[in-house]
Amino acid sequence: MTPDPAVDPAIAPAIEHDKRKHHWTGAVRPMYARHWLLGPTPRHAVPEEGMPPATAYHLIHDELIMDGSSRFNLATFCSTWMEPEAHKLMAESFDKNMIDKDEYPQTAELEMRCVHMLADLWHAPRPEDAIGCSTIGSSEACMLGGLALKWRWRERMRQEGKPVDRPNLVMGTNTQVCWHKFCRYWDVEQRDVPLEGDECVTNPERAAAACDENTIGVVGVLGSTFTGHYEDIVAFSDALDRLQERTGLDIPIHVDGASGAFVAPFLQPDLVWDFRLPRVKSINTSGHKYGLVYPGVGWVVWREQSDLHPDLIFNVDYLGGTMPTMAINFSRPASQIVAQYYNLIRLGKSGYHAVHEACQDVAIELARKIESIGPFELLSDGRDLPVLSWTLKEQPNWSLYDLSDRLRDRGWQVPTYRMPANRQDVIVQRVVVRNGFTHDLAGMLVRDIRRHLDWFATQPGLKPTLIGAGFHH
Ligand SMILES: Cc1ncc(COP(=O)(O)O)c(C=O)c1O
Repeated sequence: MTPDPAVDPAIAPAIEHDKRKHHWTGAVRPMYARHWLLGPTPRHAVPEEGMPPATAYHLIHDELIMDGSSRFNLATFCSTWMEPEAHKLMAESFDKNMIDKDEYPQTAELEMRCVHMLADLWHAPRPEDAIGCSTIGSSEACMLGGLALKWRWRERMRQEGKPVDRPNLVMGTNTQVCWHKFCRYWDVEQRDVPLEGDECVTNPERAAAACDENTIGVVGVLGSTFTGHYEDIVAFSDALDRLQERTGLDIPIHVDGASGAFVAPFLQPDLVWDFRLPRVKSINTSGHKYGLVYPGVGWVVWREQSDLHPDLIFNVDYLGGTMPTMAINFSRPASQIVAQYYNLIRLGKSGYHAVHEACQDVAIELARKIESIGPFELLSDGRDLPVLSWTLKEQPNWSLYDLSDRLRDRGWQVPTYRMPANRQDVIVQRVVVRNGFTHDLAGMLVRDIRRHLDWFATQPGLKPTLIGAGFHH
């Protein structure tokens, strides 16, 4: 066999050996002496020939070591730990496409049970009749919630003989990017309510004042991606009640409970934010955040059937029977839905409470320790979502961006970003405490923060790195 001239001469003998002796049974040669692992990794073109499965596994597995550990990622809200039994169930259902509801009726049944359980947790008037579905995450769920608001508004305006070309959606500037996407993708004006003074969440009075007859709805967030604070949904509802008394405008609320709709029912059961408020017409959540499932699964539930316009439901008959579908995406793995149902029945209300309470204890204790270091001022301390955030009291010779950068030396990923309009001058750092982040790990993080502050103190010539406005996450 002629050696490939492009190949490094140092590994040519190994290639020749593998090709001659073990072309397809290369498994005999020791793993890290196999030519596939000695030469360059296929990058831009599909290789002409394949490799044994174990070799491909090691090649990819080893490359992924560079990603770092997801457990050290304190930036993400997404689950990074699940029980072995959940792994097993997920592996048993990887091969099923949840959209094939006729072929996999039990998966469809589990999806509907999850919808009903969430509707019940969120106090829907008739949970057993609730309408909702799973999605790939909260972003898709928010798109569906927003579309239902748009359709409902448009129908009302048409009935009144009014123009339907200028819909707007009112939201705080602290909403997650999925709402900005919703507005751009579906041609809805994004009507921002900026943060003022020391606000970290949207002011309900100013949100109501931003509404007019073209407003399809107001988005309330439980809790804010930036700091973990809950917005005051009762105050939104009251402000909109007063608006209705003054003007006759009846504006619905969608609650973006990406994280909080899976936390508040267990940790703050007396907090009123959900379908107990008649103005709340739809709620979304991420099963893959505090629903404790790996990415990606989200949920959207409407208060009543009439809150979802029938035009948004499609009936398809090419899967075996006639099936209603209303999600944007079609094919999706069944495993996340199965895992969601597993968590709901395995943990129950007391189990979710225990997991979230453990996270909250860690968050509150970590916030106390971070505050006691000296230069940090807390913005949130984990009492809403188990999320804490802080800013610098004064500008030393380092910035929070520099601290994030140095914390990576042991694998910690702690994000630093600017608050949204009108508070972009405030730079914050945030930790999302999730299932599996223990007091022990939190203690290690504090020790590492202290170590880096000691190092900064030995660098008098250092200048802080300050990055321009923009939300990095
Ligand atoms: C408040 C809020 N809404 C929506 C989203 C988007 O969620 P997903 O990542 O599940 O699409 C996030 C994600 O962090 C969020 O925090």
